Amino acid sequence: MNAKNLDLKPYITEAQLQEKIKSIGADLTKKFQGKKVVAVCVLKGSFLFYSDLIREINTDITCEFFGVSSYHGGTTSSGEVKVTLDLANPIEGQHVILIEDIVDTGLTMNYLIKSMESRKPASVTTVTLLEKPEALKVPCKLDHVGFKITNEFVVGYGLDYQGYYRNLPYIAQVQNFQ
Ligand code: IMP
Repeated sequence: MNAKNLDLKPYITEAQLQEKIKSIGADLTKKFQGKKVVAVCVLKGSFLFYSDLIREINTDITCEFFGVSSYHGGTTSSGEVKVTLDLANPIEGQHVILIEDIVDTGLTMNYLIKSMESRKPASVTTVTLLEKPEALKVPCKLDHVGFKITNEFVVGYGLDYQGYYRNLPYIAQVQNFQ
């Protein structure tokens, strides 16, 4: 399979993404008024969602970046989470908003929550743009979910297949996996 030759079917449009992001942003703005908040971007997949979402959170926030890799370029989760970039600053005593692109088996999100909690923040609020409830293998605390989707591989808006398609402005389903 050539990564650059996939048959893509548009699935979630730019307008649908932006409408959902506005609504999650409004909820988070209400929740965190007057609190010390750090928004953690989980790299690489959530960088576009993160950058759109933080602009809809109308309170004082600082930004941190945490890199993990779990797929190693394939389409099924390895279950192993490798940290590729650690937070640059302590988060102790702060309210963390953990922003992920997609929860599939839930293994990565579980790992991320544990990793944040070990640093003694005041609280951890999880946000994921997409969730595949049928694929979940471990219970996962998800506070804000953009869209629940079926158990099919999707790309675009930050999500990749073998590193490609992150720059699509919408989410597409991949039609031609063998
Ligand atoms: P989990 O540990 O199985 O929940 O996997 C989460 C990670 O797998 C996400 O952060 C994505 O990087 C990747 N992933 C899961 N499903 C998809 C998909 O449909 N398209 C692209 N990446 C995915």
